[in-house]
Amino acid sequence: MKLLKAAVIFVLVPTLTPAFDPLSVSVVAGSAVMAWHLFSSDSWLRCRFQECCNKNATVNFTALKAQLDNRLFGQHLAKDVVLKAVLGFSNNPSPKKPLILSLHGWAGTGKNFLSQILAEQVHPAGLRSKFVHLFLATLHFPHQDQVKLYKEQLQNWIRGNVSACPSSVFIFDEMDKMHPGVIDAIKPFLDYYEEVDGVSYRKAIFIFLSNAGGDLINKAAFDFWSSGKRREDIQLKDLEPLLSVGVFNNKNSGLWHSSIIDRNLIDYFVPFLPLEQRHVKMCVRAEMTARGYAVDEKIVQAVADEMTYFPKEQKIYSDKGCKTVQAKLDIHEDFVMRDMKARA
Ligand SMILES: Nc1ncnc2c1ncn2[C@@H]1O[C@H](COP(=O)(O)OP(=O)(O)OP(=O)(O)O)[C@@H](O)[C@H]1O
Ligand SMILES: [Mg+2]
Repeated sequence: MKLLKAAVIFVLVPTLTPAFDPLSVSVVAGSAVMAWHLFSSDSWLRCRFQECCNKNATVNFTALKAQLDNRLFGQHLAKDVVLKAVLGFSNNPSPKKPLILSLHGWAGTGKNFLSQILAEQVHPAGLRSKFVHLFLATLHFPHQDQVKLYKEQLQNWIRGNVSACPSSVFIFDEMDKMHPGVIDAIKPFLDYYEEVDGVSYRKAIFIFLSNAGGDLINKAAFDFWSSGKRREDIQLKDLEPLLSVGVFNNKNSGLWHSSIIDRNLIDYFVPFLPLEQRHVKMCVRAEMTARGYAVDEKIVQAVADEMTYFPKEQKIYSDKGCKTVQAKLDIHEDFVMRDMKARA
């Protein structure tokens, strides 16, 4: 407000001076343009130096597809579902409700990774953007006896942020560790309302991440494998109903008996399949390339061999997905890669 007053004085004072002449007019006009650029939330100049909310942010389908094709491995279902969801949401100039995705799967299969890629498509700074909000259940909502307070804080936080930027993205991680009921506080914002207290939530994106249902997905993937079917032939209809019912009835899903499921507000349950050794190897190669090294298949194999796999007998799926690839590569980096880089 102080800045606004200063701008008004800055513009008006030259106009009121006795020595008003055509030159002053151009000075005033110039000052006015400058002031507008400095204080308008939509100004190009201001947005060059400070992140601005793209109120009508739409996700570029082609760019998102390219990112997912190149960077997310072994998740044909998650990829397809998210692209479908985003296409529908972005093509609709006036969605009836926010986009709500619930991502499920075993550890290290790419739930955070995909959320990050998606968030970057809406707000290029991704998780660093002030319009992308990541909540961790164990960090932000740890105590059972504070649930009432958390609900109030969450409502205020979301209301405030969507008022400031309608295309805000909210990611709720560790949903399986969220105390039942906390998430229901935001149900009014997720529902089919034009506005709630003067704020429209219909351009926002809500993403829930959870390990709940991971065991169901793993079993379905293993059954496919056991019957000799291709992993890529698993379809959403094989898993989605299983997930929505499983999560609703699971006390440790954060969505146990949640009105959000009851009211069918979740647009898509997105299953993440357990990763096989070939996917782990792809993660290692991607990580080596990202670090600027030539891919060395011996190291790729060594890192993949250091991971543990389940079920005990068949050893098909990586216990931690690709999660520990970076740490394992650090060790190899110390021994071998420094030397390789030096030679290169
Ligand atoms: N499917 C994948 N394709 C490519 N990289 C992946 C994939 N899954 C995991 N990764 C890599 O592993 C890292 C850890 O994965 P991420 O944090 O997304 O797992 P998660 O599914 O959220 O696991 P958790 O349930 O334990 O939180 C990612 O940053 C990424 O580098
Ligand atoms: Mg995660």
